Amino acid sequence: MAKLNTRFVCAECGAVSPRWLGKCPSCGTFNSMIEETVAPTEKKSASEKPVVSRARPLFEITYEKFDRTPSGISEFDNVLGGGIVAGSMVLLGGDPGIGKSTLLTQIAAYLSESRKVLYVSAEESCSQVKMRAQRLNLKCSDMLLLNETCIDNLENELDGVEFCVIDSIQAVYTEDLSSSAGSVGQVRECAAKLMRIAKSRNITFFIVGHVTKEGALAGPKVLEHIMDTVLYFEGENQENFRILRAVKNRFGNVAEVGVFEMTENGIIAVTDYSGIFLSESRGEEPGSAVTPAQTGARCMNVEIQTLVSKTSFGLPRRMPLGIDYNRLAVLIAVLEKRCGLNFGGYDVYVNAMGGIKLNEPSCDLAICAALASAYYSKPIDRYTAVFGEVGLTGEVRAVSYCEKRVAECVKMGFKKVLVPAKNMKSAVKYADKISVVPVLYVNTMIKNLFKDE
Ligand SMILES: Nc1ncnc2c1ncn2[C@@H]1O[C@H](COP(=O)(O)OP(=O)(O)O)[C@@H](O)[C@H]1O
Ligand SMILES: [Mg+2]
Repeated sequence: MAKLNTRFVCAECGAVSPRWLGKCPSCGTFNSMIEETVAPTEKKSASEKPVVSRARPLFEITYEKFDRTPSGISEFDNVLGGGIVAGSMVLLGGDPGIGKSTLLTQIAAYLSESRKVLYVSAEESCSQVKMRAQRLNLKCSDMLLLNETCIDNLENELDGVEFCVIDSIQAVYTEDLSSSAGSVGQVRECAAKLMRIAKSRNITFFIVGHVTKEGALAGPKVLEHIMDTVLYFEGENQENFRILRAVKNRFGNVAEVGVFEMTENGIIAVTDYSGIFLSESRGEEPGSAVTPAQTGARCMNVEIQTLVSKTSFGLPRRMPLGIDYNRLAVLIAVLEKRCGLNFGGYDVYVNAMGGIKLNEPSCDLAICAALASAYYSKPIDRYTAVFGEVGLTGEVRAVSYCEKRVAECVKMGFKKVLVPAKNMKSAVKYADKISVVPVLYVNTMIKNLFKDE
């Protein structure tokens, strides 16, 4: 094959250069020149003229139903929005050793029972993949394995294939570019090539992507733009629970999360997730509070644990895990200013149990409750839950899905729930099953929880 021409383009300003340069001559940015191919302009005959699309009114457009295939793992289907969409590109990112290859081997094995599946392993040898499949007791003798790092050789192997796994995008390369595998240009070009194959031959690609130290997917942001679905597989390595989150999904809700457990037999979906974000000993020690958190279509009770300890020197530390740093700083300021709790000389550590990330404002009130509990050294009853958004004035604001949250607390056997006063209308129907306490200010909540006696 004739080698395509390449050029170097600045990722910041788009300046073009025939050679690689350390500093862009146009905008002065360092290390921003990325290699890309120059597509040859082929002369097209009249019959090959591209079809020109015409604008049509909305009512004329027929609804195209996505053909969804179950992956064999219910939680994975949920995160995808109800199954694998044919011809889609799914990127799976995650830390090394989190279980990306394991999860995709399991899915590929399940799919290979009825469909033609190709597993392209660029990082491991075929025997390593086979060993993993045997260790996991997978029945997948029909699954095709390919140990290939050059993406240009892939096309011949794709005849009749419906699902293809690429493990990983950083380990494959295309001969069109001279840069090494894993470089920004290579990753982008390979992803673009795979997308062309996916769309033209209706093959579904599952692509493994590595994450950088900072936790973002390694490679250019365009990688995420090209994909239909971008999933992150995360969890503490030493803990067995894994959480699959969608950060982008053209075929479903991104707030949906899947909960998995890593077992000896591979990754299994956790369907009874109700207690996994709660500790056994909650309610015994001060500093923990439970909040019903809404993630996608499901609501689950999550425990927030805090530790407040005297600063030994210098500035007090603020250390949130699973919640936003700035959010914590604001809530501490509200507690100091509106409720008279003084965290000035104390380090504050906050952790959302089970490695889940809470980014909705409705957990504000529970963070405040946990902090106040640690501050007063008074535990909160284990059957009490709290939710609500906290404003800078110390007022508790209404949140969405109030009814669902209270229902989850009822289901989990909670006895008391503190809800924003403005949400009372939708919570009141559960008043016979659970004690529903309206709170208008953070202060009211603190009085209710710690100053009743
Ligand atoms: N031979 C083995 N026996 C038991 N567990 C293993 C074995 N090999 C790998 N694992 C477990 O499987 C996990 C996931 O591995 P893998 O799917 O290769 O991760 P990734 O592809 O995300 O880097 C590892 O963290 C390890 O705990
Ligand atoms: Mg792997």
